Amino acid sequence: MSAAASQAAPSAARAAMERLNAEAAPLHIWLRTQANAPAQRPWFTETGLDAAGRLAAGRVGVNQMKALPHRWRWREIGPYLDRIAAIAREADVPPIEFADRQQFLLTNPGLGGRLQVTSVIRCALSVYNPGDVAPVHRHSPNASRTILSAGGGYTTIEGERCTAARGDLIFTPSGTWHDHGNADSEPVKWADILDFPLLEFLDCNWIDEGYPGPREGNARAQAPVRGAGHAQRLYGKGGMLPAFAAHPSGAGTPMIHYRGTDIRAALEALGGETGDPYEGIRLRFVDPTNGASAFPTLDYAAQLLRAGETTRWKRETASLFYIVLSGSGATEVGGERFDWQENDLFAVPNFLWRRHINTGHGPAVLYSVSDAPLLDKIGQYRAQGRLADGTVAELAS
Ligand SMILES: [Fe+2]
Repeated sequence: MSAAASQAAPSAARAAMERLNAEAAPLHIWLRTQANAPAQRPWFTETGLDAAGRLAAGRVGVNQMKALPHRWRWREIGPYLDRIAAIAREADVPPIEFADRQQFLLTNPGLGGRLQVTSVIRCALSVYNPGDVAPVHRHSPNASRTILSAGGGYTTIEGERCTAARGDLIFTPSGTWHDHGNADSEPVKWADILDFPLLEFLDCNWIDEGYPGPREGNARAQAPVRGAGHAQRLYGKGGMLPAFAAHPSGAGTPMIHYRGTDIRAALEALGGETGDPYEGIRLRFVDPTNGASAFPTLDYAAQLLRAGETTRWKRETASLFYIVLSGSGATEVGGERFDWQENDLFAVPNFLWRRHINTGHGPAVLYSVSDAPLLDKIGQYRAQGRLADGTVAELAS
């Protein structure tokens, strides 16, 4: 019997099962019924462009929240960073004592207030006033910073101080010591992106604030022990690896700092290529020692959409989160259309068809984060695309 037919008419048997299910709930068991089934979404047979599948119903459904497509407009949320910074400047105690970090986190409206934008990805937007320092620490989640202000302050990672600017991408792989600060004269703003929700789900979230060894300054930051640009000298030339270096293994990429100017130049240098019909000109930030994703869980990329470019429809079992670095356009996903401009952020949950449209007169640049590497490692990564005639092609299966 199909699901539609099973729900068509009231039935004494169904009602009896629901009563039994409700009665059994205090015993922490769950009776499988049609009206109380877990969510399972069709992949191969569902090719419509609207949102995929249905949420589960009944007692199960209450706990089966699904991320929704959503866009956060910078012009609406950005001012809150200025307001947080203003309170911090006037505060009678150091910011760390009342705000822990000066930031707000994005909450996906489909996830019931959880601090996450997709099932795996968390995003915070942070502001650091001149002189602010976040104490040195390390933790199990992988994390990154994408600099949004003109100046980017600094992040020191395992003794390498990365002084940053707009568009820079900084990686702090799981377990690496890091601290942040702003030695500039203006507040700096950036987006922190982490695989925190995954670690939370696995109950494997830990933090270590007991940095060993000598400390400097306010005793809460690492002393830089490597020259500026160390990672770029070692790993910044594609295809050329220093044979003498003992590359760190396991946690994530040793190329911890990409400059926004270099990213932009690399994209524009490829602007004359045909590119990918589903993604435009897209560059992945990979571990230069082995070509793997930046983190075992997350893949980072930057993509250039040329003026007038519209990508073909694509969907994946992976979820994505985007930051608009420049340009203006729109992304259609799950039956919705999100116009976007500089610094806007948006979530594209898995299973949903999406396409990007550059509606501006110049190029647009999107940075994105995807949990595709995680899904691939557990044998669950699939992707489909729509060809020009509308037929569906398996891109990864
Ligand atoms: Fe951290």
